[in-house]
Amino acid sequence: MADKPQNWVLMVTAQSPTNIAVIKYWGKRDETLILPVNDSISVTLDPKHLCTTTTVAVSPSFDRDRMWLNGKEISLSGGRYQNCLREIRGRASSVEDDEKGIRIQKQDWEKLHVHIASYNNFPTAAGLASSAAGFACLVFALAKLMNVKEDQGKLSAIARQGSGSACRSLYGGFVKWVMGNVENGSDSIAIQLASETHWDDLVIIIAVVSSLQKETSSTSGMRESVETSALLNYRSKEVVPKRILQMEEAIRTHDFPSFARLTCADSNQFHAVCLDTCPPIFYMNDTSHRIINYMEKWNRFEEKPQVAYTFDAGPNAVLIARNRKVASLLLQRLLFYFPPLPDTDMDSYVLGDKSILKDAGVEAMKDVEALPSPPELMNNVPSKRHAGDVSYFICTRPGRGPILLADESQALLHPKTGLPK
Ligand code: DP6
Repeated sequence: MADKPQNWVLMVTAQSPTNIAVIKYWGKRDETLILPVNDSISVTLDPKHLCTTTTVAVSPSFDRDRMWLNGKEISLSGGRYQNCLREIRGRASSVEDDEKGIRIQKQDWEKLHVHIASYNNFPTAAGLASSAAGFACLVFALAKLMNVKEDQGKLSAIARQGSGSACRSLYGGFVKWVMGNVENGSDSIAIQLASETHWDDLVIIIAVVSSLQKETSSTSGMRESVETSALLNYRSKEVVPKRILQMEEAIRTHDFPSFARLTCADSNQFHAVCLDTCPPIFYMNDTSHRIINYMEKWNRFEEKPQVAYTFDAGPNAVLIARNRKVASLLLQRLLFYFPPLPDTDMDSYVLGDKSILKDAGVEAMKDVEALPSPPELMNNVPSKRHAGDVSYFICTRPGRGPILLADESQALLHPKTGLPK
């Protein structure tokens, strides 16, 4: 192992994005290996606005594996963490750091313990796929620390064993998780369909919907759907395979109308499967349904889709606008229907890329109050605007895959002690 002294700490810090599925993963054929019943496709979100940062450290002075999430120590004893750690350790190679006088042999990794600190730049509880970014980042950072030589596809198969949707966060842009056929899951991997620059026009606005309801986790929800929903079986065998081909083509050719129709239809079918589950699962609430109605009305008025909507296992809406101009019109509508509560600072109501807010000409509460009613409402102006039903909006775009952060000041663990800073 290291020559001397034995109190060294070696660490790596990485940053990984989250992703939003436009063709959904819902249902496993193998619960332990996390193998899905159908392929899925996602868009990676810009890590500037939504990402996980993870520092992993190794030192002979560590007496056990430990992890801190957003500053609080959590247990690593769960099967999913253990599977990821075992898979990465099993592929570790020797590491030499001459500057620090560190030499780790391949076989040493089995005895050495790691410290992991992870931080989300968005609220973990907001239901914004934190497990996808989290496991992708953990696997990516551990693979760098332990000098794992496997390619990104193989790493995605390891991240998959932490959380299915995490495998898609190993790449930027547009990503497909291929369900695979083999029993050990080695061919159930993510592949990149197109990079984040391929379809530069798209703008994504997330409405974080206020909800007091405790949601069924994706893991247990999809287990119940597999056990009880006949619609899920039909969906995975008959519907998704065709949609995957159509979605790949829509992405390849920048065909926004097809992209939007497929995205909305697939979100709606996923939630129909949830309703078809016994007992039924309700992830969307009245606000989510209202957003769908407003978007449908607008798309129909324009005679071709301007915006796509999709909802995961919760009430938050992810809205994809065809370009920046449409995104500013979308934000105007969202603020018209869902204004902030009085005394809310606009700066904390619209997060992320604030330039969209500027384009929309809405910089203060008085601008929200002055917003005209959207033309698609005709004379049906709502008697009530729904202040307080949305907690906040995040403006973002398609983004890149995981990266290493070389600057030690960004590390979440102390370089001398390996404990959280
Ligand atoms: C609705 O990846 O969170 O977001 O594999 O059990 O960890 P586990 O589930 P998870 O499920 C995500 C489901 C979804 C759709 C999707 O992301 O494709």
